[in-house]
Amino acid sequence: MVSCVGMRYIFPKRFLWGAATSAYQIEGSPLADGATPSTWHEFTHRRGTIEDGTNGDVACDHYRRFEEDIRSMRDLGLTAYRFSTGWARIFPEPGSVNPTGLDFYDRLVDSLLSSGIVPLVTIFHLEEPLWLSRMGGFTQRSSVDHLLDLGTTLMRRLGDRVKMWCTINEPSLYSFQGYGTAEYPPAHRFDLRGMFHCAHHLLLAHARLCDAFSTLVQDGMIGLAHYYVDVVAADPARAKDREAAVFMDELANRVVLLPLFSGSYPERVLHRMGRFFPRGFEKDLATMGGRGSYTGINYYRRNRYRYSFFTPFLHAEEHLEPSAPHTAMGDEIYPPGLFHVLMRLKGEFGNPPCMITENGPPIPDVPGQDPLDDTGRVSYMADHIAQLGRALQERSDCRGYFFWSLLDNFEWSKGLSMRCGLIHTDFATQKREWKKSAYWYRDLIKRGWLEHEASEVAEP
Ligand code: FCB
Repeated sequence: MVSCVGMRYIFPKRFLWGAATSAYQIEGSPLADGATPSTWHEFTHRRGTIEDGTNGDVACDHYRRFEEDIRSMRDLGLTAYRFSTGWARIFPEPGSVNPTGLDFYDRLVDSLLSSGIVPLVTIFHLEEPLWLSRMGGFTQRSSVDHLLDLGTTLMRRLGDRVKMWCTINEPSLYSFQGYGTAEYPPAHRFDLRGMFHCAHHLLLAHARLCDAFSTLVQDGMIGLAHYYVDVVAADPARAKDREAAVFMDELANRVVLLPLFSGSYPERVLHRMGRFFPRGFEKDLATMGGRGSYTGINYYRRNRYRYSFFTPFLHAEEHLEPSAPHTAMGDEIYPPGLFHVLMRLKGEFGNPPCMITENGPPIPDVPGQDPLDDTGRVSYMADHIAQLGRALQERSDCRGYFFWSLLDNFEWSKGLSMRCGLIHTDFATQKREWKKSAYWYRDLIKRGWLEHEASEVAEP
């Protein structure tokens, strides 16, 4: 448990201090050594899909420079590192493993372990092989078996050394942005059937991967990383806004958390949108609850909702409060939300072991300003980590914090210019330089305590 003297949060000795990345965002060399294209490779090569016109062809060139990056992790004092695997490197075609692709992750794991860093492997982080997408991707039930193939291959190869696993990164966001807003491939818009089929199959695959894990990996932990949104009513005094917020919370959060913990979907979502789920989903649900051994939370934002008669199905509309602080990606910055989610896991779901698997602000370069002087990132981290300290004091069973991200990388539809790293990447030269936030994080990890106020922020 955390102890607190004044506003000093002292973190447990075994608390994991990490950073997170994902394969397509950092590796580069997407077609090297027998790999076939992922949907992101194909998508980024279509004109107009990425805001700044960049792609992940080189990104941080981590595929060839991973040893240098692991040295930085060691110098930062990270005790854990969360990364993901390139599915189409390992399975260039359905059913056939590419040993060279798999070897890369083997070397990465060995190198992390020899630097004293605990690896946390994410099996699927947004990066679907093009071959799967051509078969209908996660809208098809067969996708569950394909993902299980990838997961079990990884567990068999790495499970003797890797004990921390994340099955899937952000099933709700993947479905929503792929089939709702068209920000991710396959870029469908308002395809509710696609969205709920995809989400359901991802959640089913999670349960199956957890089952496989219990026979393939000894003494480990497995969970998924949920994109948690702190949802509130735009005007808490209006009953209609409160109702809108309850529904949007079901859609953003409970649609993932309920299947994980109790094998059910939230009632209101089923009532309004049940017809878009795959036929027979109820039978699956009965086999899905209570599977993982920890819950991963990616926390970036608070959303406010107003009642809206005219928005089909949702009857809710997002309200952007101009006086509230927002990141460059439009996320409302609200550090107490991190405390709320941990308390919610404790109160509603029996205080499961959990981890903050992502948190961090995107800050684009501003011409004329020193990109290494990221004091905004430092205050963001202090504000959020203090809330984590506060939750530990309230006996949350949170075991680790993974900052997004280790180094500036390819930020999906925003491209290379949206920077999230502790370490600055010069994409022209591949030179890495530590930002202020990297030194700050290193010192925090070394000290093991944080002196900072964690209060409920007054409503703007
Ligand atoms: C999360 C994604 C991660 C990164 C951050 C900024 O939703 O999981 O890959 O893009 O946002």
